Amino acid sequence: MRTQVCIIGGGPSGLLLSQLLHRAGIDTVVLERRSRAYVLSRIRAGVLEWGSVELLDEAGIGDRMFREGLPHTGTYLSVRNRGFRIDFDDLVGKKVMVFGQTEVTAELYKERDAMDGVVIDEAEGVALHDVDSEKPYVTFTKDGREHRVDCDFIAGCDGFHGPSRKTIPENVRQEFERVYPFGWLGILSETPPVSEELIYANHERGFALCSMRNQNLSRYYVQAPVDDDLEAWSDARFWDELRRRIPESAADSIVTGPSIEKSIAPLRSFVAEPMRWGRLFLVGDAAHIVPPTGAKGLNLALGDVRYLNDALRAFYLDGDDHGVETYSETALERVWKSERFSWQLTTMLHRFPEQSPFDQRMQEADLAYLEESRAAQTSLAENYVGLPFYGRP
Ligand code: FAD
Ligand code: DHB
Repeated sequence: MRTQVCIIGGGPSGLLLSQLLHRAGIDTVVLERRSRAYVLSRIRAGVLEWGSVELLDEAGIGDRMFREGLPHTGTYLSVRNRGFRIDFDDLVGKKVMVFGQTEVTAELYKERDAMDGVVIDEAEGVALHDVDSEKPYVTFTKDGREHRVDCDFIAGCDGFHGPSRKTIPENVRQEFERVYPFGWLGILSETPPVSEELIYANHERGFALCSMRNQNLSRYYVQAPVDDDLEAWSDARFWDELRRRIPESAADSIVTGPSIEKSIAPLRSFVAEPMRWGRLFLVGDAAHIVPPTGAKGLNLALGDVRYLNDALRAFYLDGDDHGVETYSETALERVWKSERFSWQLTTMLHRFPEQSPFDQRMQEADLAYLEESRAAQTSLAENYVGLPFYGRP
């Protein structure tokens, strides 16, 4: 089999890249290790920057997002059970959209099918070859048979554990990492959200977040030890813990119900450099991970797709290889800024194991300053709604 761009991974990055390239007349094959049902059942991110919304719209999957998504013009922060609002619209004239990653992926699969895009699922043993030559290729097994895809470029959209990043030799690849000493225990429940907007709460007992997917589907998180046994977290215990950490008015009015999903996610900051080696590009979680505070993971992945789509279009349609040559530097510049924001928000809002009363007061002073200072709020808002691409507003 031959294609122009072989895409490894059928998560949001891989599917969106395939969809955008196809619309420009560039041929792709997507190889996904899991079944489609598995990919579509994953509950992950919930908040889209407006740049992500626009890119998804450009890819032709805007209809349901605009119909069902919830535009948010601000968010609440809370400290010592008292909330205050950051007004994105007033501060930076922008908003975000609550529309789950699960829905984004479902829409992308639907469009890929409608355009007869080639997405091969349950592809086992995917391996990259001759990546630093002009003629790279990818091999995999499907239904017990060996297959080979010859291509011009490989896009590694295969998440943190995929094979693409590891193909870059160790003497070329640099990795930067921080692992946080706690996790997020999250639940999904078919109840109306406690607040029209998200609430990010700092509390002595640990961080909490009130989020949502739609008017009758809520997503809540509490900071918890990453190795805690899920069995020890009954729904009743989760709701009690959440209520203790959020603003009193929210705790009083929250509607609780049975959880329909419950899991603990680790928190990590990670960046691999470079994001291009020869004819291989790394995209999304394959190259970088952020802790979830601030909802940057999916948005950063979609940002890489924007840069790579621009670069490959210029290469194929205009014979211009500048974007391909500079992809890594261009993408990493924005990646590091989002890493900084996610790390800073995580540090300001969580309870660290060795945290002293002094450290707690510092966090509270940070939040008090944020409540009073329009300059500090503007900085948060600018980052939360999404930094510009190519360094331009
Ligand atoms: P992925 O979504 O990881 O997609 C990679 C794809 O590659 C997967 O489908 C995988 O099956 C496939 N793959 C892997 N190995 C192979 C292989 N060998 N061969 C072929 N295919 C392969 N972000 C937020 O902003 N907010 C959140 O609340 C949030 N929650 C998260 C919870 C969890 C448990 C995780 C893991 C992530 C969460 N994220 C969150 C991060 C966000 O979901 C990711 O940043 C986003 O999914 C990145 O998209 P991606 O397409 O780059 O990678
Ligand atoms: C969600 C997750 C986040 O990490 C965040 O900052 C906001 C919302 C969510 O899953 O809804």
